[in-house]
Amino acid sequence: MAKKHVRTGIVGTGFSASFHFEALGKIYGTDVEVIGAHTIDVEGGKAYCEKRGIRFFEKLEDLLGEVDVIHCCTPPYAHEPVTIAGLKADKYVICEKPLTGYFGDGSEDFHGERFPKQQALDAALASVDRLIAAEQASKGRLLYAENWVYAPAIQKEREILEKTGGQILWIHGEEAHSGSHSVDYAYWSRCGGGVMIGKGCHPLTAALYLKRVEGFARDGKTIQPKSVTARCHAVTRLPSFRDEGHIRCDYYDIDDFSMMHVEMTDGTMITVFASDIVLGGIHNWLEICGNNHRAVCNINPNTLMQTYNPVEENFADIYVVEKIGTKQGWACTAPDEDLITGYPAEMEAFYRTIAYGEEPQSTMGLAADTISTIYSAYVSAERGGAAVDVKTY
Ligand SMILES: NC(=O)c1ccc[n+]([C@@H]2O[C@H](COP(=O)([O-])OP(=O)(O)OC[C@H]3O[C@@H](n4cnc5c(N)ncnc54)[C@H](O)[C@@H]3O)[C@@H](O)[C@H]2O)c1
Repeated sequence: MAKKHVRTGIVGTGFSASFHFEALGKIYGTDVEVIGAHTIDVEGGKAYCEKRGIRFFEKLEDLLGEVDVIHCCTPPYAHEPVTIAGLKADKYVICEKPLTGYFGDGSEDFHGERFPKQQALDAALASVDRLIAAEQASKGRLLYAENWVYAPAIQKEREILEKTGGQILWIHGEEAHSGSHSVDYAYWSRCGGGVMIGKGCHPLTAALYLKRVEGFARDGKTIQPKSVTARCHAVTRLPSFRDEGHIRCDYYDIDDFSMMHVEMTDGTMITVFASDIVLGGIHNWLEICGNNHRAVCNINPNTLMQTYNPVEENFADIYVVEKIGTKQGWACTAPDEDLITGYPAEMEAFYRTIAYGEEPQSTMGLAADTISTIYSAYVSAERGGAAVDVKTY
């Protein structure tokens, strides 16, 4: 069978736009042509396009006129407008995490700690509603780029659940490292919150996904979040924090440590830690405690390869693993970090949906439940950890 041809555009040309482009190059089931990219940073956008031999578009509408799908790789505050513009033009939109959020009231002195979190929850859910309506009115579709869903370890767990009918009793997981590279990340107004949304969304979405898989496999219906209890802290902004230069600590108004405990509609639980205060490289994992099996999904690090390097400089030109502070000594060196993180599998699957109509695993509903749970968690944290009901989609 001839491969279907799909024309693609990328919106935003920073960090995630780079790994999206890499993953596009690995797609084998669809004939993908990257037409060009658009960003508000004209100089940066032109450099990105020149390096990759694609066209730069100053206007999003012009890019939309020439493609079948766009990748929304902008900071979270721009996800809704870019995604809705794509859906309105009847395009598929692959949108980075988190789907959307609340980005303040636009005032210059907006501060993430000085507004009622119910306001954020209401606004985030209103944004979710607008996105759902846009998708329903469109010939296109939203494909939610949560790579954890497509990480090989999570997909293997999906197979176990589907084939054994296992019941998940508790999932716990974590995404952590020593701080994001992004300047925008320091501000609630650009990212819609701190580490609880920025990092917490990854393990949370993977856990919510697996509970959906479990419910469908056994009973033909989803198991969804019911209520959430959460705590957030700003450890690096404590007057007592002692900066030794290993942990990023220039955040303006966001949380850098969080814990969410979710009760599901079947009474089982998900517990997620997310933080920016952990040394030793990226620390991303999910453990599934089932009634018939237990699984530890090591997203990163894992022991696919381990290296010992006696002299730091020997590895000066060698990529070891994300966010590692030193290359000396033992390391869980990643021979193909993108693969274990799920990026190529995610893009392969999305383009199978676009070209051949295959049902995606990571959808608007899953993204919406994630947003609803996390903003309810911010309300809970404000109330000292009281349980807050979660609206589901
Ligand atoms: N899945 C993952 O592992 C992963 C990793 C990093 C980032 N992300 C997500 O990717 C998104 C982007 O993060 P990043 O690290 O690439 O940020 P970045 O700052 O490196 O790049 C953002 C890009 O978007 C552009 N931009 C900003 N506003 C825009 C607008 N209104 N219209 C068009 N372009 C605009 C910027 O000019 C820049 O080119 C975020 O949602 C983030 O959460 C996901």
